[in-house]
Amino acid sequence: MKVIVLDNAVEISKEAAEIIIKQVNKNRGSVIGFATGASPVETYKRIIESYEKGEVSLKHITTFNLDEYVGLSRENVNSYYYFMKDNLFGKTDVDFQKVNFLSGQAENIEEECARYSAKIRESGGIDIQILGIGTNGHIGFNEPGDNFADGPFAVKLTQSTIDANSKYFEAVGDKMPEYALTMGIGDIMRAKRIILIATGKSKAEAIKKLVEGEVTPSCPASILKLHGDVTVFVDKESASLLGDR
Ligand code: F6R
Repeated sequence: MKVIVLDNAVEISKEAAEIIIKQVNKNRGSVIGFATGASPVETYKRIIESYEKGEVSLKHITTFNLDEYVGLSRENVNSYYYFMKDNLFGKTDVDFQKVNFLSGQAENIEEECARYSAKIRESGGIDIQILGIGTNGHIGFNEPGDNFADGPFAVKLTQSTIDANSKYFEAVGDKMPEYALTMGIGDIMRAKRIILIATGKSKAEAIKKLVEGEVTPSCPASILKLHGDVTVFVDKESASLLGDR
């Protein structure tokens, strides 16, 4: 696992975006796994800038997002589909036919998870998976627990995740859903390359556990140590608890 400490989110975004842009320019039909949340937003801005300058086209990529809230429609401003449309896809030439999401409104959750799993396999697998990390060490919505899940599943969100994300729902007078659908740890680990982005003091403990702790489902991100191609981009604050390296 490569850990790169940079000054701030803007510096991180330049390097993370460059990795994605290079991948897409090498293979225009690349399969990219996207994350939502605050962590990748700057990176998505850099990709949009590159698209606007004609340096990259996302027209032929296939996308898979990590997760979606149960019960939210794509039109809901707090759905992750809406987030991606607003923060990246809708501002580039992404082909929405090639955008894949777990449906938060699926009637049969088991079938929906199996469908998503099959879609990822049929695409040939994810070339680059972008990740953030929860303050509790979650990746996607794989919350701390007793084991690592393989494929997509429905999860009851922990209080720590609800505390971190309810502000977005409160802003529009809504209550945050308690359940989400998420890719499993197996889906994430099968990605050929993984980029994790973390910024801010609130992530320092999770980053310490990820980088220096043992591999344990009580810190789901810790499994990334067993993957052969992971780059962790951290700013000084989120790296502040790391020992000398
Ligand atoms: C989002 C996701 C989550 C976030 C994590 C960090 O699709 O899967 O694991 O990456 O909760 O969120 P932020 O970046 O908002 O701190």
